[in-house]
Order: sequence, then C-alpha cells, then structure tokens
Amino acid sequence: MSRASSLTTPAADAAAPERDPGKITVAFTLNGRPVTMAVAPMRRLTLMLREELGLTGTKVGCDAGDCGACTVLIDGEAVCACMVPAGRLEGRSVETVEALARDGAPSPLQESFLRHGAAQCGICTPGMLMSAEALLRRNPLPSEQEVKDAIGGVLCRCTGYAKIIQAVKNAATVLPAASIAWTACRRSWAPTPSAPTGGRPTASSPRSSAARTTGRGSASATSRPSRRGIRASST
Ligand code: FES
Ligand code: FES
Repeated sequence: MSRASSLTTPAADAAAPERDPGKITVAFTLNGRPVTMAVAPMRRLTLMLREELGLTGTKVGCDAGDCGACTVLIDGEAVCACMVPAGRLEGRSVETVEALARDGAPSPLQESFLRHGAAQCGICTPGMLMSAEALLRRNPLPSEQEVKDAIGGVLCRCTGYAKIIQAVKNAATVLPAASIAWTACRRSWAPTPSAPTGGRPTASSPRSSAARTTGRGSASATSRPSRRGIRASST
C-alpha cells in the first residue's frame, strides 16, 4: 500500500519535530467526520480515499475525468474525485458511497438499485449512486430527462442505463419499511457449504448486488466523455 500521505491528529502534529516539505496539511470533512492529513498537494482524492483512508467504495476507471466511476460529492456537488487534488480540499465536505447506508441498511436509492437490478459488474455503481444522490437531494421526484442529465457523466458498460434510470426515478417511492425486509432477506442469502456456487455469491445474486451498491464491488472500467472536477468558482 502506498503511503504518500499520512493521517494526523492535532496532538500528533504538535509533537512532530519537522514536516515533510513536499506535503501540505489539509483539513476537511469526510462522511461527516473531520479529517486532517499531511499529503502531497497534487495527490488525487481517489488515491487519498482508497489508499490512505481505506474507503474503496469509490472506484477508479479512467483516472482522467472521463468515466465518472470515481464520482463523490464535494459540498453536495457531484465531482470526479480523480480530478480533485488534495490542495483543493481544505474546508470542504466530502461524501462517498460509504455514507449512503445507515446502520448497515441501504438507503432508499441503493435499495431501488437492488430492486431494479441496476448494478451488474458494479464499477459504475458508486458513481451512479452519488450522481443520483446529488440530484435527488435537490429534486426528489426528477423527470426521466433530469435523471439522464444527472448521470450523463457516468459510463456504464453493463446495464444499458434503462434500469439505472428507473431506479433513480423510483427511489422516492421506496418505503423505509422495505429496508427492514431487505435486511431480513439478506440474512437468508448467506452462503452455505452446500450451495451450488461453493458458498460464493453469483454475479446475479441479490447479495453480490448489495455489495456493489454499498461500494464493496470490484472491477475496472474504461472511459466516456465527461470531465468534472471542482469548479474554480467554488474555491
Ligand atoms: S476514474 Fe475519475 S472519471 Fe474515470
Ligand atoms: S454495472 Fe455499470 S459498468 Fe457494470
């Protein structure tokens, strides 16, 4: 694991005899919690999240602002984390796909993805979810065109988009009680030694889909035109 940057606390900072001249200290909020890091100023947010902070739900596809797989929310706006250098994070609020579930239960949006089969390989799913989350916060009942516009910067190679669009459109209709039912069902999906798949979830199983919608899937992706980072006007 690369350690180009390191987590620090205020106390640890005070005790440090000297600083790495190639690093800066950035303080921001990550999924509601304050974080202070000593990090190279051009370190990409994707790498900070995945390698320093252990949040691997954010996926890396193109690493060039094209595929949208790395989409996170910064101050509530969907941006490509691979285009955000550490030096732009001071005072910001960063939210990743890991912030969506509550107490282990998927959010209504995640549950809608599960119901509609909107997650297949899973590489685009965190980016889709965070792009849709930004939309639904400002518009809980979006039109189909508004959904298409919101997720237009995220490439999906698997679903053909129709299921994703329906999942986002219908997210507002998912009742909180459904989360309870989903949690109960998930227990019954636990692999058993006698399972035909050898105890491993299959690609189409609800259990593996749940992992993808909560950011625990794994895959790689290629690119699609869309380049988004933090807008200059928002700094
Ligand atoms: S990995 Fe960031 S846009 Fe593709
Ligand atoms: S589910 Fe979207 S790229 Fe595979």
